Amino acid sequence: MKISRRRLLAGFSCGVLTSQLPSLSLAESEDGMFDLVAGPSRQRLYLPDAPSSDLWTYNGYAPGPEIRVKKGERVQVRFTNKLEEPTSVHWHGIRIENSMDGVSGLTQEPVEPGDTFVYDFVAPDAGTFWYHAHNKSWNQVARGLYGPLIVDEVEPVFERSNDITLVLDDWRLAGEGVLDVASLGSMMEWAHGGRLGNWLTVNGQSRPVTARVRGQTYRLRLINAANARVFEIDPNRFGATLIGFDGQSFTEPAKLDYAPLMLGPAQRVDLMVVAKSDFTIEEVSGDTPYPIAGFSVSDSETTEASRSDKKLQPNVLPSADLAKARRIRLQMTGGAMGGMIDIIYKGKKLQGDDFRTARQAWAFNGVANLAEEPFFEARQGETILVETVNRTAWVHAMHVHGHHFQILNRSGSDVDEGKPWRDTFLIGPDQTTEIAFVADNPGKWLFHCHMLEHAAAGMNTWFQVT
Ligand code: C2O
Ligand code: CU
Repeated sequence: MKISRRRLLAGFSCGVLTSQLPSLSLAESEDGMFDLVAGPSRQRLYLPDAPSSDLWTYNGYAPGPEIRVKKGERVQVRFTNKLEEPTSVHWHGIRIENSMDGVSGLTQEPVEPGDTFVYDFVAPDAGTFWYHAHNKSWNQVARGLYGPLIVDEVEPVFERSNDITLVLDDWRLAGEGVLDVASLGSMMEWAHGGRLGNWLTVNGQSRPVTARVRGQTYRLRLINAANARVFEIDPNRFGATLIGFDGQSFTEPAKLDYAPLMLGPAQRVDLMVVAKSDFTIEEVSGDTPYPIAGFSVSDSETTEASRSDKKLQPNVLPSADLAKARRIRLQMTGGAMGGMIDIIYKGKKLQGDDFRTARQAWAFNGVANLAEEPFFEARQGETILVETVNRTAWVHAMHVHGHHFQILNRSGSDVDEGKPWRDTFLIGPDQTTEIAFVADNPGKWLFHCHMLEHAAAGMNTWFQVT
């Protein structure tokens, strides 16, 4: 089966927006800890009269509960694993203490079925983050193990009711409501663009609509929780401006002067929109825009007018010392249409049938997946400049754990004026991207493609800060 994202999205163009946008539950127990339980559950993802789907979720629903704290606050999560396999929880984008990063096999032992693990960390930055399973993520995240983590400004800038989290996912359904689990380990897809779905949801609902108040200024926090899909969104179509990427807000709201905005797996974008009339967020990669979420706008006499000149206070991040930066070169190879390549996996060169049995298809500098030795070591405080060269035929979404970075340039040209901070960057075929960051967080950190099938099939490495 050949998967084309265009065709799949077009296949569901019935045009109407129906369900309500679920606002996600907030969990906090009496002792100040959030309780998070991973386990199997059933949920109606598909049409109202279709059977519900068998998922793996946090607290019974995908996305899991919205964990919401204030900047600088301590977050304590008592996590229990009620799955039948080990797992761990990663707090994506949080500049976190290494032992709390939640990477099974690197920063902690996986949490065995029936066991509990307490995550305890400080959220240093105000912004839009998320959490997800980090053990066999290609499987666990695809089945629903993810949720939003929102860190509020110390003095909130948006009214709580105008601050809306939208977690985007694309599910692969094999029939009415039936999650396609047979395709989960498809090596063919691992070596292509990853496992794309055919059913889009926002906060677990297809094409939800919510009622909003005219004249109010809304903050929309879009989180891409899909394994491999890049959502293409054009904020100009509904009059929105950009106020932040990947949990880091801008000094000034910015108008997107190119279109569309590519929201890669794991990336977030915060938008600001003044509700004037009904508006719809659409996915615009196909021939006809595909509605993702709708907002029906009407007047209200009871809601106070909100100011539209809102400005967020950016977080303070360590600025890179480019004059002293150490340059690390990372060459991406492999995948379908990438030609024959040599791959070292677990210290040995793969040959013939090995590729299939080891399930490896991609490499960074010729090495697939985690080696004994780190990809590089940095002294704490050192500026690292990573030059990533994509020699594959595919787009990738590279994520650095424990740090945010700035994109310096793409293939020689300056992009994204103001060099916004990110934790995940997209890189297209034949592109070269330079990023820089201060390696200020001690520990062992992953650097991997967030197309989760690519990571499993080799696009996964680690570095150490000492
Ligand atoms: Cu969203 Cu390795 O992370
Ligand atoms: Cu990739």
